[in-house]
Amino acid sequence: MKKYSVFLFWLMLALTSCSAEPASVEQKINKLIGQMTLEEKIGMLHGNSKFTSGGVDRLGIGEISYSDGPHGVREELERDSWKPAGLTTDSATYFPTGTAVAATWNPELVYKMGVGLGLEARARHKDILLGPAVNIQRTPICGRTYEYYTEDPYLSARLAVGYVKGVQSCDVAVCVKHFAANNQEKDRGTVDVRMSDRTLNEIYLPAFKAAITEGGALSVMGAYNRFRGDYCCESDYLLNQILRKNWGFQGAVVSDWAAVHNTRKAALGGLDVEMGTNAPYSAFYMADSLLALVQRGEVSEELINEKVANLLRILFKIKAFEPENRVKGELNSATSQQTAWQIASESITLLKNQNDLLPLQRDKIKRLAIIGDNATRKLANGGFGAGVKAKYEITPLQGLRNRLGNDVELVHVKGYEKRSKVKYKNDIERDRQTADEPDYVLIAEAVEAAKTCDMAIIFGGLNLDYDTEASDRLSLKLPYGQDSLIAAVTRANPNTVVVLIAGSPVDVRTSLDLAPAVLYGWLNGSEGGNALADVLLGTVNPSGKLPFTIPARLEDVSVHALGTYPGVDGKVSYDEGVLVGYRWFDTKNIEPLVPFGFGLSYTRFEYSNLKTSNTTCSGNDVVTLTFDLKNSGSYAGAEVVQVYAADLESSVERPAKELRAFTKVRLEPGEVKSVSVDVPVSSLAFYNETVGDWTVEPGDFDLMVASSSRKTELTQRITIK
Ligand code: BGC
Repeated sequence: MKKYSVFLFWLMLALTSCSAEPASVEQKINKLIGQMTLEEKIGMLHGNSKFTSGGVDRLGIGEISYSDGPHGVREELERDSWKPAGLTTDSATYFPTGTAVAATWNPELVYKMGVGLGLEARARHKDILLGPAVNIQRTPICGRTYEYYTEDPYLSARLAVGYVKGVQSCDVAVCVKHFAANNQEKDRGTVDVRMSDRTLNEIYLPAFKAAITEGGALSVMGAYNRFRGDYCCESDYLLNQILRKNWGFQGAVVSDWAAVHNTRKAALGGLDVEMGTNAPYSAFYMADSLLALVQRGEVSEELINEKVANLLRILFKIKAFEPENRVKGELNSATSQQTAWQIASESITLLKNQNDLLPLQRDKIKRLAIIGDNATRKLANGGFGAGVKAKYEITPLQGLRNRLGNDVELVHVKGYEKRSKVKYKNDIERDRQTADEPDYVLIAEAVEAAKTCDMAIIFGGLNLDYDTEASDRLSLKLPYGQDSLIAAVTRANPNTVVVLIAGSPVDVRTSLDLAPAVLYGWLNGSEGGNALADVLLGTVNPSGKLPFTIPARLEDVSVHALGTYPGVDGKVSYDEGVLVGYRWFDTKNIEPLVPFGFGLSYTRFEYSNLKTSNTTCSGNDVVTLTFDLKNSGSYAGAEVVQVYAADLESSVERPAKELRAFTKVRLEPGEVKSVSVDVPVSSLAFYNETVGDWTVEPGDFDLMVASSSRKTELTQRITIK
C-alpha cells in the first residue's frame, strides 16, 4: 500500500485552494473588523431580507445580495417574502438544468454557462449565486435529480469546477450546494444521514472538494438534513474539520434557507451566515441570541471576527469595494442565449433510432403529428428555488415551427393532460396518486391525428410537479397514463418518435419497446425547443450521454433493493456504501434498462489501436491512453469517450468499474483522430478508513476505454508497483 505524501498534499492544496489573500487584503480585513462594533459584526451574519445579509454602511460594506440558482438568476422577490416583486426588468436566460448540463459531458460548455450566469447576476447586482447544486443522485426518484448533475462523483466534480470558474470570473461568488449528503427531498428538513467515511469521501464529497480546491469556490451552502446527528449547518465535522481544516476553505458557509436550529451549535459548528429563517431578522439564531452568547462569554468575539473575515474575503475577491473595476454584466445577451442553445443541443440524448428513422426527412413529410402536453409546456418557472423568469422559452412545438417554417403542416393535439397541481409539500403525494389514469378521449384524438400524418412525435415525460424541490417522486412511472398513449399512437402510426422532457430517469420501457426512436430532451432552457428541432431534423447530430442509469425497475437501484431509502425513524443509513448508480448495477450484475454513459449518434464511431505510455507504474505516475477514433458514418458528430477503471485485486470491495476520465471528440465523416486520455494513478485510489487517507494498492487494474458504462471498446491492463 502506498500512502500519499502528506507534504505533496499540502503543497497541492496551497497551490490550488481558495488560498489566503495577499497580506494587504488580510490587513484591510482586520482593519475593517477593528472598526466594527460587535452588533455590526453580528449584523453581517444573518439575513436582513429574504435574499440579502447585512452590511455596515458607515464602513462602506454594502449588504450582500444572493440569488438562486443553478440554471438562471431568479426573479426578484419582495424583500421580506417569497412573493415575486413584479418587476419588468428581472427576466433572465433560462439555462439547461443540471442533468441536461451533465448529459453534454462538456466542462468547457459549463464554464461558458457559468460566465453567462455570472454576467446576468452582475447585471442584477448580485454578489452570490446559489449554485452549482452538486449532490449525488442516490435515488432516481429524488425530486431534485434534475437540478443535480449525475450519480457519478467524478463527472460531477469536473462539471462543478467549470461552473465555479465561469461564474467567479465575473466577480460573483458561487455557493456550492447542498453540503452535504442532501440526497433526498423526503424528510430533508430533519433526516439524519449516516454513512462510512469511505462512502462520504468517495461518493458524496468529491464534487464539493473539487469545487473548492480546484475551482476556488468562495461560498458553500449548508444543507437542510442532519449528518451523523448534527444538522449540516451545525456540523463541526463537515464544516470545521472537512471544509476548513482538510480542504483549506477560507470562504463563507451560508445556511440553506431556514436550515439553522440552534445558535450555539451553528456558531461553533462552522456556519457563517444564517439565511431564510422567518422574520423578524433580529430573531434569527445568528442574530440577537448570538449577540447574547458573545456578551455572556459563551462564544468568543474572535470566532465572530473569523466569520466576518470569511465574508469580507469574498467581498474583496468579487471586487465589491472597487465597483469601478467590477464586471458590469449583461442580461440576456446573444452570447448567453447561444450558450444555452449549445448546451441544449449537446445534451439531447438519443436512446433508440431503429432503421435510422431520425433525422426526419423533411422532404418526405407533409403532415407531422405533435402530441403531448410537453410540446407546449414552459418549464422555466417553478420547481421552487430553481425557477427562472425566462426572458423567453422555446417550447418543442415552437422550435419545430421555427425550423420547419410552412413546409410541413404540424397537427398538434394534447394526448394527455397535466392533471397534477403542486400545492405544497404534503399535498404533492396525494395529488400525484390521482394523476396516473390515462385520458382515453385525448388518446383517441391523438390516434386520429397520428393516423392522418406521415409521422408522429410524442413530447411526454415529467414537468415541475415531479422534477421539483421539497418532495420525491413515488415511482419511475410516466405520469398521466402516458404509456397507454405511447402504445396507442405507435400502433396507429409506426413512425412515431418519443421525446422525453424530463430531468430525471423515467421508466422508458414502453417507449423503447414500441417506438422506433426515443430521445431524452431534458429540461433544456430557453433554447430547448430550437435545439430539439435541430436534433430531430439533423442539423445537430446528438452527442449527449446519460449522466445516470435508467433502471428497469426501481427495486433494482441499490437503495431501493436494500431498503436504505427513505430511512427509518428519522435516520437513513447509506448501507449500500459506494455502490451507487452504475457502481451497484455493474458490481451486482444487474441489467439496467439503459446504462449510465449511454447515448447514440446519427453516425458510428470505431475505436482501435490502444497504446499505453506505461503499463507498470507507481503512485505519482500518469498513464496516458492513446487510441484511434474513427467516424465511420456519414454525419459529422461528437463522441463522449469514457475511461473506467477496475481494481482487479483489492483488500476492500471495490465497484466493478469507476469512471476516471472522459473527453468529447468531434469528427467529420470518415475522419480518424488519435485521442489521448490521461489517467493519474492517484485517481485509482480508494479511501482507506484504517489510515484516514487515500490509498493506491499495488496490483493489476484494467483501464477500459468505453462508449458507455456497459460498452467497453478497448482495454489495457496496468500494474501498480
Ligand atoms: C433550497 C436552496 C435554495 C434556497 C433559496 C432552499 O429551499 O434548498 O437550494 O437556494 O431555498 O431559494
